[in-house]
Amino acid sequence: MVFNLQGKVALITGGARGLGFQFAKELLKNGVRGITISDCDPVEGSTAAETLNKEFGRGKVIFIKTDVTDKKQFEGLNFPEAFQKTVEVFNNVDILINNAGIMNDAIWEEEIAVNVNGVVHGMLLGFDKYLKNFKSDDEAVILNMSSVGGIKGYGHVPVYVATKFAVTGMVKSWSYPTHYERTKVRVIGLCPGATDTTLQVMEGKYIGPEYEDSIKDIPVEQFVIQPAEFVASEMVKLLMNSKNGTMWVVEGSKPAYEYIIPERETFKNNRL
Ligand SMILES: NC(=O)c1ccc[n+]([C@@H]2O[C@H](COP(=O)([O-])OP(=O)(O)OC[C@H]3O[C@@H](n4cnc5c(N)ncnc54)[C@H](O)[C@@H]3O)[C@@H](O)[C@H]2O)c1
Repeated sequence: MVFNLQGKVALITGGARGLGFQFAKELLKNGVRGITISDCDPVEGSTAAETLNKEFGRGKVIFIKTDVTDKKQFEGLNFPEAFQKTVEVFNNVDILINNAGIMNDAIWEEEIAVNVNGVVHGMLLGFDKYLKNFKSDDEAVILNMSSVGGIKGYGHVPVYVATKFAVTGMVKSWSYPTHYERTKVRVIGLCPGATDTTLQVMEGKYIGPEYEDSIKDIPVEQFVIQPAEFVASEMVKLLMNSKNGTMWVVEGSKPAYEYIIPERETFKNNRL
C-alpha cells in the first residue's frame, strides 16, 4: 500500500541545509502540509524556513532550534519542544527524518553524540511517543539517515562509518514486527553515496593525516558526487513505497536500490 504524502506533517532534524533542506522542499512539492525544521543552527534554520514559506505559502514550515545531542535539552526543552510545537501548530506528526549528522573523526566523540545518540533520541521521542500518538492516518514513517558508509567500511573515516553502521542497526531492530504492531510506525533507512553538501568538505576532519591516505584504497567511481536534489526525489519515493525495515542506497544519481543483509546462516560453509 502506498503511503500518501498529501496533507501529512513532517519533522526533519538537520533540515537547515544540505540533504535535510532538500528533503523539506521535495516533501512540500509532494503535498505535505506542514514541516518542522529542527536544527542547531539558528541562522540557517530560520533562513531555510523563510525561503520555503516564500515558495510554498506562509505557515507551511516552522523552525525550532534543536541540538539532538543534548539529552537534558532533549528531555527538558529542546527536541521534545520540536515535537510539541509540531503537534501544537499542525495537530499531527506523520513523518520523522532523523537526518542531522556530521562527518568529522577529528572530534569523534561529538560525532558519535550527533550521529548515534541523536538518532536514538529521535527514535525514543518519535517512535515511542509522538508519531505513535499523533499520526493523522493509519501509519507513520521514520526515515533514518545511514550512508554507503553504514554498509561498508571506509579506512579514512572509521568512526563516521561506525556511527552509520549503528544507524543501520537501529533500522533493523526498531522495525521488528512487534514494534510495528504496537506503534504502526514504519522504519526505513537511506544510504546515500557522496552527495554535494558541506559534509563533503573534509579539511581537518580526519583522526590524523595518515588516515586521509586511506582514500586511495577506494575506487574513484565511488566518489562521483550527486546533487542533494536527486537524493531528495528518491527519498520521497521510499517514504511512499518501501517496506518496513528496508535499507536503500542512492548513489551516482541513479535510482534507489535495496541493500539486503543476507541471513548469516547462508555463510555457514565459509569456515577457516
Ligand atoms: N553528503 C553526503 O555525501 C552524505 C552521504 C551519506 C550520508 N549523509 C548523511 O546525510 C545527513 C545530512 O548530511 P548533509 O550532507 O546534508 O550535511 P550538512 O552538513 O549539509 O547538513 C547537516 C545539518 O545537520 C545539522 N546538525 C549538525 N549537528 C546537529 C545537532 N547536534 N543537532 C541538530 N542539527 C545538527 C547542521 O546544522 C546542518 O544543517 C547526515 O546524517 C549525513 O551523515 C550525507
